[in-house]
Amino acid sequence: MKILVTGGTGFIGSHTVVELQQKGYEVVIIDNLSTSVKEVLYSIEKITGILPEFHEFDLCNEYLTAKFFDNNKDIKGVIHFAAHKAVGESVEKPLKYYRNNLFSLINIMQCMNEHQIKNLVFSSSCTVYGQATELPVTEKTSIQKAFSPYGHTKQISEEIIECSVKSSGIKATLLRYFNPIGAHETALIGELPIGVPNNLVPFITQTAIGKRENLNVFGNDYNTPDGTCIRDYIHVVDLAKAHIIAFERMFNNLSKSDCEIFNIGTGKGYTVLEAIRSFEKVSGKKLNFKFAKRRQGDIEKVWADTTYANNELGWKAEKDIDDMMLSAWKWEVELSNKVKIRHKA
Ligand code: UD1
Repeated sequence: MKILVTGGTGFIGSHTVVELQQKGYEVVIIDNLSTSVKEVLYSIEKITGILPEFHEFDLCNEYLTAKFFDNNKDIKGVIHFAAHKAVGESVEKPLKYYRNNLFSLINIMQCMNEHQIKNLVFSSSCTVYGQATELPVTEKTSIQKAFSPYGHTKQISEEIIECSVKSSGIKATLLRYFNPIGAHETALIGELPIGVPNNLVPFITQTAIGKRENLNVFGNDYNTPDGTCIRDYIHVVDLAKAHIIAFERMFNNLSKSDCEIFNIGTGKGYTVLEAIRSFEKVSGKKLNFKFAKRRQGDIEKVWADTTYANNELGWKAEKDIDDMMLSAWKWEVELSNKVKIRHKA
């Protein structure tokens, strides 16, 4: 069965492609490589033995998107990752986020409609809850005003999907991820930020390896036990597996409605300082960090109630924060070895 994975060379996308291929699915990837590199395809091939079919173009381009679907009539489902995702950048460049994240979704859904492709898994985020008034958040927790344009694009995307399934034959599953981190156990794929990382864990590992001088911890005056923000970190491989389970539930008509929503996290919240301590423990490295002012667009704390995903999907996160940090560290070490080999050659 052929599945389209948009953003398939990205962080979560690439791990999901591996899981799909290992379960026997045929994968076709669309990615414009704006925040990823083509080499990821060869790393996927090293892990699974299969080089995924790849098309490089921007899904905001209506013509190219339509042409792709015209030429690929055997696609049975779409897992849509392709989107910009940096909270801070979205505050500085909101239009970039609205344009990219919304146009691509609209183009894809339009084509799915025209070609009667019925199954969509959408990459949503806990960011849709804004600063939730009750913790942990369940799928029924009310949606607050988004804290960033990035968060707002995810809220609008969910609404676009919810409205569209009512008037089309498309079924959708919205996965609200908490904070995906870590890397594949082979250390062949992982998070690969281009330039200075926005997210915490690549910044931690790059600091520990010596690529960055020190980590800025954004804010130590939040209303949390140690003053730093709390997040629910989830291993990217656990998250990737949730996509396949969600897809199969939908494809096999087991969904309870045409648009289902699941929180995908571990259910445990960690402060930034706790995350750093876990990294230091598993890597044996002392991290150079200092406190800096709060980052615009950050919420104070969020973690998931995952009961619904656990019960309905039969999915549960298996890896803990130490596993996540260790795999992220192994990936960073592997990357730096590759650079050393390149310099020597
Ligand atoms: C947000 C979303 C998450 C999404 C991600 C995509 C929320 C709650 N979560 O994650 O679902 O997948 O965007 O990018 O909206 N930090 C530092 N120093 C740094 C970098 C980060 O202290 O150099 C802190 C942040 O202030 C935050 C935590 O680390 O408290 C995690 O930040 P980050 O990894 O950027 O993810 P979020 O913005 O929480």
